[in-house]
Amino acid sequence: MLIRNHFLVLTVLLSGFCGLGAAAQNQPADTSLAATQPAPARQQQLRRMLEHDCGSCHGLRLTGGLGPAIHAEAMQQLPQAAIAATIFHGRPGTPMPAWKSMISEAEADWLAAYMQRPSATKPALVSQDPRP
Ligand code: HEC
Repeated sequence: MLIRNHFLVLTVLLSGFCGLGAAAQNQPADTSLAATQPAPARQQQLRRMLEHDCGSCHGLRLTGGLGPAIHAEAMQQLPQAAIAATIFHGRPGTPMPAWKSMISEAEADWLAAYMQRPSATKPALVSQDPRP
């Protein structure tokens, strides 16, 4: 009961903060994603990781570098589960590292879905956020 209420509050908060209200209605996938939403502070950490750690190989704007482009348009060509598995397990034999010591499988799922979301529905780059 408590968990369900918490989940509802989170969903409402996220819809408001991320301006997802309209987008979510067009994208049922976002609704199932909500079942594994990390806490807001953790989402911030994951976004920061995507920008800084992933960006070091995939480019600051994720348009490609040592690794291929992993921006939203590229990620929408791949199944969410495949992206999550690549993040969690890495790509053995390539420089793409496994992130399972840093994040949970649920967080990899969330990150994969987040990466697929159109840029317009996302907050500004983390590096532009004020530092705590
Ligand atoms: C040390 C460099 C490096 C880092 C750091 C890195 N990657 Fe990669 N990544 C790669 C390389 C190289 C590939 C291509 C692997 C291959 O050849 O299959 C790749 C592939 C991928 C793919 C598959 C793309 C596709 O088109 O199939 C995804 C998704 C991905 N990385 C996401 C991430 C995420 C998310 C992070 C941060 C959590 C990250 N990567 C951090 C080097 C890196």
